[in-house]
This record gives sequence, C-alpha cells and structure tokens, in this order.
Amino acid sequence: MVQTSSFTKTDWQKGYKSLKTEYSYWVNDIEGELPKSLQGTLFRNGPGLLDVNGDRYGHPFDGDGMICGITFTEGKVHFANSFVKTPEFLAEQQAGKILYRGVFGTQKSGGLLQNIFNLKLKNIANTNVIYHGQKLLALWEASRPYRLNPQTLETIGVENFDGNLAAGEVFTAHPKFDPATGDMYAFGVDAGVKSTINLYRVDQKGTLTRFAKEKVEGFCFLHDFAFTPNYSIFAQNPVKFNPLPFVLGFKSAGSCIDLQPNTPTKLLLFDRTGKLTTLETDPCFIFHHANAFEQDGKIILDSICYRDYPKLESGLDFLDVNFDRVIPGQLYRFEIDLATGKVEKSVLQDRSCEFPVVHPDYVGQNYRYCYMGAIANSSGNAPLQAIMKVNVQTGEQQIHSFAPRGFIGEPTFIPRPDGTQEDHGWLVVLVFDAASDRTDIVVLDAANISEPPIATIHLKHHIPFGLHGNFTPEIWHRGK
Ligand code: CO
Repeated sequence: MVQTSSFTKTDWQKGYKSLKTEYSYWVNDIEGELPKSLQGTLFRNGPGLLDVNGDRYGHPFDGDGMICGITFTEGKVHFANSFVKTPEFLAEQQAGKILYRGVFGTQKSGGLLQNIFNLKLKNIANTNVIYHGQKLLALWEASRPYRLNPQTLETIGVENFDGNLAAGEVFTAHPKFDPATGDMYAFGVDAGVKSTINLYRVDQKGTLTRFAKEKVEGFCFLHDFAFTPNYSIFAQNPVKFNPLPFVLGFKSAGSCIDLQPNTPTKLLLFDRTGKLTTLETDPCFIFHHANAFEQDGKIILDSICYRDYPKLESGLDFLDVNFDRVIPGQLYRFEIDLATGKVEKSVLQDRSCEFPVVHPDYVGQNYRYCYMGAIANSSGNAPLQAIMKVNVQTGEQQIHSFAPRGFIGEPTFIPRPDGTQEDHGWLVVLVFDAASDRTDIVVLDAANISEPPIATIHLKHHIPFGLHGNFTPEIWHRGK
C-alpha cells in the first residue's frame, strides 16, 4: 500500500533557517493551562546558525550551538536563547565567513587548497546541555564541555573539571545520571586505528574521577552508552574510517565513515571497576540507546538501530535529501546473557524513530515506557513529526502526531512531583509549525499522549531543529 506523504519538503526545509536573534521574554501566547506543579528549567541545545552571512554549513550537525532556556514557574513560561560563544564562533562572526571545516560536511570556501591538511575544527558545542554539580554545560563529543551561566546563559569558558580533563581530551554529549546516587557517568573516546575509551564519574559536587582507560581494537564511533547499576554499555559500530579524503580536503570526516559488511557490532561492557567484556551481535549502526537493565544474569539493552551507517549521499545538499532513501532507525532489544556471552536481538517497534527517552528514575532499571520522536506514517521514512510512547513489555504504542505541518525533535520527560506511576509526568517537545513559521513548546500528558496537549506555548519565532536537552527542577531565568 502506498501511503500519502505526511509532509512537504518545503515545510521541512524551513526548520533549517538560522535563528540570528538572542531573545529573553515571558511568553504570553499560551493555549490551555500550564500546571502550577510543573516547575523548573528545560535547557535545550542544537544548531542555531546554519550559515555564516548566507554561506551555508554543509550539514546541520556542523551548526553553531545555541542554548534555549525554557523556564516553567507558577503557570508561566520564560524563554531565552543564547549562542555558545566559543573563541572560534566569535572569530567566525567577526570575519563574516566560514573559517573552520566541519566534521559532517562543511568545507571552507576556496576549494581544495583551502581545505587540504586543514584539520582544525571549531568546538561547536551544539549537541546537548546538562545542569549538574551546579554547572550548566554545553556538550559536543569532539571536545571538552563549555560552561555557561544558567541564569543569563552567558558563556563562561571551557570546563576542565579542576584540571582533571586535559586539553585534547574529549567528553561525550551523552552522559547518564545514576538515579540511586545522582552521580553523572560519562566517557570520552580518542578514536583511531586503535581507540582509547576513558570512563568518568562526576559526583554532585562536580568532581570528576576517571575509573577506566582502555584501548580497544579498531575505530570507535561511540555517540552514546547505556547505564545500569553495574555496567556502562557501548555498541561499537562496525565502521571503518578512511581519513585520507578528509585530510586531503575532498570530504568531511562524517562522509569518510563506512559500515564494514559482514562484520559484527561489538558490545563493550565495562563494569564499575573498569573491567571490559566484549561480545558480538549482528551488524547494525546505533547512535542512541533508550535504556538498559540487569535481570536474571542478563543485560537487557534497548537501542535505536540502523541497518547501515545513515550518511548523506556524497555531494548531495542535505536539504535535498530523499527520505524514501534514508535508512529508518528502529527500536530493538538486545538480550545479553552474561554467562554464555550469547546476544539475542529482536525488534520492539518497527516505525522509524529516534531520540528515545525514559523516566529519569528508571534509567538502568526494569522499565515499561519509552518515549521518542517518530514519523507520522506507520511505515516508510520521513522527518520526525510524531511523539510515540511504547510499552516495551507489551509492545503497545500511543502516538501524538503533529503532521502535516508540525516537525518535532527529542521529547523531554518531566516527572510529576506527586507521581506514583512510571508514566506520571509531562512530555515537553518543541514543535516547528511550518504554517506559522514559529516554534511551539507543547506539553503532553505522558500517561495518555494521544489526548490533546495540556498546553501549547507559542513562541514569537522559530527555533531551528535541535538535538538534545535536559530538565532541572531549579528555576533559572533572567526575566523580571
Ligand atoms: Co545524540
């Protein structure tokens, strides 16, 4: 059966316009009523600028990090956004042109001679933002975090955790928070022919401890990991990286990656002493893990899997991508038997999806509900236009679609202060509305996401499609 398209490409493309203004205002245009018990600040990160003076970046992942602070207090909402003002960002804005090559597709203008052997990348600080140890940190996996003032969103500078994260070391954009202790677990990869994986724990005072440093065979493209009380779990995608075209200036680093056919994906299981166990499963590519937990001598790992590395066709403008040819991500479950080393893999949900999240208290625990961005149709591929809730125990699903003119990113699960069930909370998601050319902040009841939204907060402007973010119950805003 041929399904009609859920969107038009011109609508979708509008979500990739730069937002050049930095705002700070109380939002007055709200449909519905915000619960008074929804209190705190949702910080989000993503590329705010997709061009410098009209000179476009080759890929949105190369866009400059822009932090949004969305503060819920007393039934009101305050919005502010600010760019992460790294020295490279400021130099580029000053020059009015692209000065650095991007990892994913941006080449400096001037052709081969301008790009050859030019390996200097800028820290774009655009992937995630967390509030931990009383520090607000913008994260990008190829460098160290950038610290910002949570109240004003002003950039403070590189965070080196009291000198424990040296220059040249990197810090993931996907830390995990242990619900039992509140500690943050993180990693950094120095990828090469052999790769070095560093594992970190950052306590609530912000003190960083390195508890493992392990060399593994092969190039490691590790974007995320899964956390359980006793393990940090990585999927080492079977990719090879051919750096020559990147070094020579023909290609971006991201397009030099290829999945090696018939090569298993490795599962790297580090225990809390740093001891590594390596297991194998069928070839696939994973950016994000939904959750993992330990049960009866097994580890259950739920992840969004692609059957190949979903790279952009060479030479193609990302705005012209043909979604029918984009490999869908699907929610899979891996059952890892720790005694036998056997791994069984099954599909939990085949609708194309990304950006999985769970209730923060259920990270590393046996859980029921996963929330994610999904396509509006039940099959095929398209931009994310719907929120999907999957009961991973029964396979039951609920959908809230914003198609045809709404486009979404990662939802955030915010627990209700008085909640007694796993899905007692709110799902907050930014929806780009192509009809109004503006972005809405939509609040859904996580217990029943198919219902009309609890509240739709209309911003005065759009926010370019973003990446990741986190909620803190602390109230930070610079509104009067
Ligand atoms: Co990510």
